[in-house]
Amino acid sequence: MDNIIIAIDGYASTGKSSLAKAIAKHLNFVYVDSGSMYRAITYYALKNNLIPLSRPNLLELKNKLSKINLNFVYNKELGFSEIFLNNKLIEKEIRSVLISKHVSSVAALPFVRRHMVSLQKKISLNKGVVMDGRDIGTVVFPEAELKLFLSASAEIRAKRRYDEYVKNNINISLKEVLSDLQSRDLDDSTREDSPLIIAKDAIEIDNSEMSIKEQLNYVISILSEKFNL
Ligand code: CDP
Repeated sequence: MDNIIIAIDGYASTGKSSLAKAIAKHLNFVYVDSGSMYRAITYYALKNNLIPLSRPNLLELKNKLSKINLNFVYNKELGFSEIFLNNKLIEKEIRSVLISKHVSSVAALPFVRRHMVSLQKKISLNKGVVMDGRDIGTVVFPEAELKLFLSASAEIRAKRRYDEYVKNNINISLKEVLSDLQSRDLDDSTREDSPLIIAKDAIEIDNSEMSIKEQLNYVISILSEKFNL
């Protein structure tokens, strides 16, 4: 029972990646940030003037998709993998406000999702993996051994993301951050293909009042109880 899959889904900015990284570090598992893949395709689409997603732009994006090279390279100093698009490190670029504004429309495209899901499965083959996203426990790995679903109040999530932006010298108001999160939550939950829903067998964690350490300790207790890990 060493190479289990841990799927973490949840609303925007619920701290999925912080918890996923902490669990992966604890278990010495691979961490995959599936959101960064959708952000990378959005970055590509913006760079290549394929947004707005008009009919010809969609056709071009569809044609280019299989030629886009997306890969993760482990950064020893940071302790997690960073995403590269056609051999260019884009970890910082994909966290911009502009990408956040467009990513949900790109992620709603069924041809984009099909391609991402197939890459996500390939990356995870025969490995112990912690993957976070929106459809990991429902679509990518419905057979995942452990599924977590994170939530927190919208105001708390907005404040967390706002603080991250401030730290990275990104100029935006708290109100704008809140509205971006809420509109992404709505788009992600109501899209036709792989909407954000709670898997039947997921364990829900409302981390509004929990630190990362408290969340990690809770997950560690589940892991040792259920999987002897
Ligand atoms: O970090 P944050 O929670 O803001 O978002 P993210 O995990 O980086 O994901 C960015 C966007 O990608 C989401 O709002 C979704 O539209 C999309 N996404 C998705 O559709 N499916 C996934 N498995 C992961 C992300």
